[in-house]
Amino acid sequence: MAAAESGAGKRPRGAEVQDRKVDWRRWKQERKAETKKWKEIKLLKKLEKQRIRELAEQQAQTQEEQKEDRGRQHTLSVALPGSILNNAQSPALRTYLAGQIARACTIFCVDEIVVFDEHGEDVKTVEGDFEGIGKKGKACVQLARILQYLECPQYLRKSFFPKHEDLQFAGLLNPLDSPHHMRMDEDSEYREGVVLDRPAKPGRGSFVNCGMRKEVQIDKQLNPGLRVTVRLNEPQNPEAKVRKGTVVSSHHPRTVSGLYWGYSVRLASCLSAVFSECPFKEGYDLSIGTSERGSSVDQVTLPSFRHALVVFGGLEGLEAGVDVDPNLEVTDPSVLFDFYLNTCPSQGSRTIRTEEALLISLSALRPHMEDAVKTPRDS
Ligand SMILES: C[S@@+](CC[C@H](N)C(=O)[O-])C[C@H]1O[C@@H](n2cnc3c(N)ncnc32)[C@H](O)[C@@H]1O
Repeated sequence: MAAAESGAGKRPRGAEVQDRKVDWRRWKQERKAETKKWKEIKLLKKLEKQRIRELAEQQAQTQEEQKEDRGRQHTLSVALPGSILNNAQSPALRTYLAGQIARACTIFCVDEIVVFDEHGEDVKTVEGDFEGIGKKGKACVQLARILQYLECPQYLRKSFFPKHEDLQFAGLLNPLDSPHHMRMDEDSEYREGVVLDRPAKPGRGSFVNCGMRKEVQIDKQLNPGLRVTVRLNEPQNPEAKVRKGTVVSSHHPRTVSGLYWGYSVRLASCLSAVFSECPFKEGYDLSIGTSERGSSVDQVTLPSFRHALVVFGGLEGLEAGVDVDPNLEVTDPSVLFDFYLNTCPSQGSRTIRTEEALLISLSALRPHMEDAVKTPRDS
């Protein structure tokens, strides 16, 4: 008690101040350490965020590169004389033969079919009055028309192919069943369509029939009746009355997504016009003539190419086309091509018909062409 009263056991006043100073210093040190820790955590979080961002950017770039990788930059063209239709024995068989050509070309992903006139009639378009589909009718025009008809997706044919006697037996034609011939509910990145004659609000794009339940509103105003290739946007709202899409070039599905997107058809007034009217500004950089008198396809090594052309003759071979062509001074067709190939060595029949040669040749050439496009180009 006495001790308590006298203040015994109590620490001197100076020591208390000293202690407080120590506490204050410790408190400051602790705060400093906490701040340092907190700053470290913040920095770690920032670094983690940055790492995630970089990873996402990397992934997006890889996806973009993969998209580009998916594309096919090279093309395959086939040329053949329209006169082959004249070998068919009835109008129905003419039509069926044209269908066989279309199917063979689709099976082997041919991008362009050139129908040339090996007899020198001057036909350039599929416009004009029809003059009958007799046995010796205008074979080039009819072949081109049937090829175009078959290439067009079924839901667009009414818009682009009015009734025509060339198409009288179109019912016999087997469908191409190619990737751009969509069924109504089929999901696809691209679709072929026709621009509808329906007013769109200013600043908004035209409406397009793409053969779906809903019409597609594109990003541009275009003339009604135009055939367009549309890249469909992801559907945002399933309740929306229309789908949205962007108009792209007809090459886009091939060059960007690697899809086979049908063939174009071109008429050439003679064999030399097959080359001189080539739609690619750099021309065909690989040309192959086909003949039983050519060298064997088996040993051939094709060079890398961008635009390949394979040419077939008619009943009398490629010589017939060379003979009547006013622009050609040669008599031997082999000199016109980079390669002149026999695609069916040791054939069992004396003659192989053009429609058969088409299937045989494209099948025999396929592995050689695949190897060729894998080879790096010189330039
Ligand atoms: C009926 S053949 C022409 C036959 C004609 N007697 C000739 O001498 O060429 C029609 C076309 O089929 C192609 N063909 C026929 N046999 C071939 C073969 N063994 N190799 C490559 N193409 C062939 C050629 O394009 C030919 O012009």
